[in-house]
Amino acid sequence: METKLLVIKNPESQAEQVRQAADIIKKGGLVAIPTETVYGLGANALDPQAVKRIFQAKGRPQDNPLIIHLHDASEAEKYAESIPEVYYELCRRFSPGPLTVILKKKDCIPMETSGGLDTVAIRIPSHPVARAIIAAAAVPIAAPSANLSGKPSPTTAQHCVDDLWGKIEAIVDSGECAVGVESTVISLAEEQPILLRPGAVTAEQLREVLPNLVIHQAVTGELEQGAKATSPGMRYKHYSPNARVVILNGSSEAYARFLADHGGEGVYALCFEEDVSKLTVPAVVWGSRTDDGSQAHRLFAALRELDKLGAVQVYAHGPSREGVGLAVYNRLIRAAGFEELELSENESESI
Ligand code: TXA
Ligand code: MG
Repeated sequence: METKLLVIKNPESQAEQVRQAADIIKKGGLVAIPTETVYGLGANALDPQAVKRIFQAKGRPQDNPLIIHLHDASEAEKYAESIPEVYYELCRRFSPGPLTVILKKKDCIPMETSGGLDTVAIRIPSHPVARAIIAAAAVPIAAPSANLSGKPSPTTAQHCVDDLWGKIEAIVDSGECAVGVESTVISLAEEQPILLRPGAVTAEQLREVLPNLVIHQAVTGELEQGAKATSPGMRYKHYSPNARVVILNGSSEAYARFLADHGGEGVYALCFEEDVSKLTVPAVVWGSRTDDGSQAHRLFAALRELDKLGAVQVYAHGPSREGVGLAVYNRLIRAAGFEELELSENESESI
């Protein structure tokens, strides 16, 4: 299939390009669109045939439900029922923005979109190009991250080109995504509000509105065999670069010492700016140790860069787990297949 590249920098002065992207979606086609988190692979959420094509293009398991993207929280009642009042309070605080809320779905949302569940995930993105395309299409847009299933999510149009060129009708290029990790996902459809995926709207912020918010155990750990995957996406392997990734927790000095002992062919560091001058192996920098926003912004691009470099073994310097750091850690630990080491801070006691 021929894929069209639409460069949209300013949706107001480029109404024609916005209309082209929206028309493809209205007609049942697939368009990779920018959002403030990552690029999404958009289709009409109400069209089962279009939605099926999303799963084919990504190679995504059919039981993994999609997020629907709306222009305004007031539209949620068209697609969800029994919406608790707190949903609107969350929207007043955090929407439009990187927050997805799971609610009981109405029948108009096809089972293809909800992965067979009786719930629907709703997000109101803030990216002006995403908002212009949603408004012009005048349908809810189902959009998972626009990567091949299992690969790091795309934060530039080039990442979408690398994964989906020739498989979808169009890719919109609006530059780099600001946040860099996918939206925070919470469910209001369970007995208690539960955080299923951390993101740029942090658990600390959400607790100001939802003091009884529970954090699902899979956020920081591996889902145990037989445990209930409240979000089907928790079960699948994610964000995997080709290399084996191991997370190393400890000071910059302990990290540098470990790498001095473990260098070799294909060994790379995925490190912070503060580490790089101390290292004796080639390194990809993914932000500052004290700036979780910069880590989120760079993480997926850094993982893709390591693939391009042909990395075989990557040692990543572990981030903090506070604030947006929790989202960064959640993605990194999946990229690492849950392999993590605590470094010894004692110089004589080398691992
Ligand atoms: O930032 C984002 O959320 C991006 C952009 C494009 O909006 N989208 C995104 O979609 O990350 P995706 O499909 O890659 O991740 C959605 C996650 C999956 O883990 C999925 O299992 C979960 O949300 N999810 C979606 N609908 C759900 C539902 N009804 N119940 C439970 N989990 C759901
Ligand atoms: Mg995804």
